[in-house]
Amino acid sequence: MKIGNIIIKNNLILAPMAGVTDVGMRRLAVLSGADFAVCEMVSAKALYYHNEKTKQLLNTCPEEKIKVAQIFGNDPEIMAWACQSEALQKFDIIDINMGCPAPKIVNNGEGSALLTNLPLAKKIIEACVKATTKPITVKFRKGMNEHAVVAVEFAKMCEQAGASAITIHGRTREQYYSGQVDYDCIKAVKNAVHIPVIGNGDVVDEASYQRMKDCGVDAVMIGRGALGNPCIFAKLLGKPTMSTWECVQQHVLEMLKYYDKEFVLREMRKHFLWYLKGVKGVNAIKTKIVTMNDLDEVMHTMKKILQEDKNG
Ligand SMILES: Cc1cc2nc3c(=O)[nH]c(=O)nc-3n(C[C@H](O)[C@H](O)[C@H](O)COP(=O)(O)O)c2cc1C
Repeated sequence: MKIGNIIIKNNLILAPMAGVTDVGMRRLAVLSGADFAVCEMVSAKALYYHNEKTKQLLNTCPEEKIKVAQIFGNDPEIMAWACQSEALQKFDIIDINMGCPAPKIVNNGEGSALLTNLPLAKKIIEACVKATTKPITVKFRKGMNEHAVVAVEFAKMCEQAGASAITIHGRTREQYYSGQVDYDCIKAVKNAVHIPVIGNGDVVDEASYQRMKDCGVDAVMIGRGALGNPCIFAKLLGKPTMSTWECVQQHVLEMLKYYDKEFVLREMRKHFLWYLKGVKGVNAIKTKIVTMNDLDEVMHTMKKILQEDKNG
């Protein structure tokens, strides 16, 4: 598949996850076979106001051959400005978030709120497409709720507005992350447009991956299935994978290239717990790990647990 002129080989993508898909995790995902890994979403307005914390979310590594940023906002001019901004220069693709269900985003008329305002969503996409020669993609949901399903109409609008590809997460805003993903909706979206369609939702193993591919989508995006398991892509591609301990070690080392130790420890705590998912008898140690204040000590503990675990 191609997004604009960019060739995608394995048709596997790591989903953007705010507070999760840091540079360390994205590196492991692309090394294990994801074509690209989308950065955490950033606010176009925050870029406009030169927010330093926002810029920090846009660190990328050399292993990311295809760099993808995701922006959100509801002002076509500011969104277009962001596409031209210095901070996004190094990116190859810019994705627009039109699916975020978080109240603070939706109440601002951003993210999935745009599913209820197609004319404005169209203006935003058109403004971004006009502002840059880079491919603009859009990630969205099925609709606000089961009574307001707009996925097919929305997909057609994205295509008309000039999007180079779309990602459909087969859930409504009201569902957040619960309930089952709607495969029929994903199929209908795929059949409605000619641009590449990326299917997203609930892919965690071989069977769910196959189920998503059966929708006829051009590529598959994985989010939560990669938590503590960033090498899921290698597993799905039938390639050898790193051990969990190797993942932890490489994740931390990569993060230390960009951030100080204190920040890395804070950011890595949730990842440590995800990496320990499935390891038996570690509940007490998990509680200890999240309160430890020394990264070296945590790493020593993680190494011991994971090397003793036969799956680690
Ligand atoms: C913690 C978390 C953070 C997320 N942040 C983003 C985000 O920044 N941008 C976005 O488009 N989707 C975000 N999502 C949604 C995921 O990209 C994905 O659409 C959703 O989790 C469904 O896919 P999955 O079932 O494979 O996890 C987030 C999801 C989670 C769980």
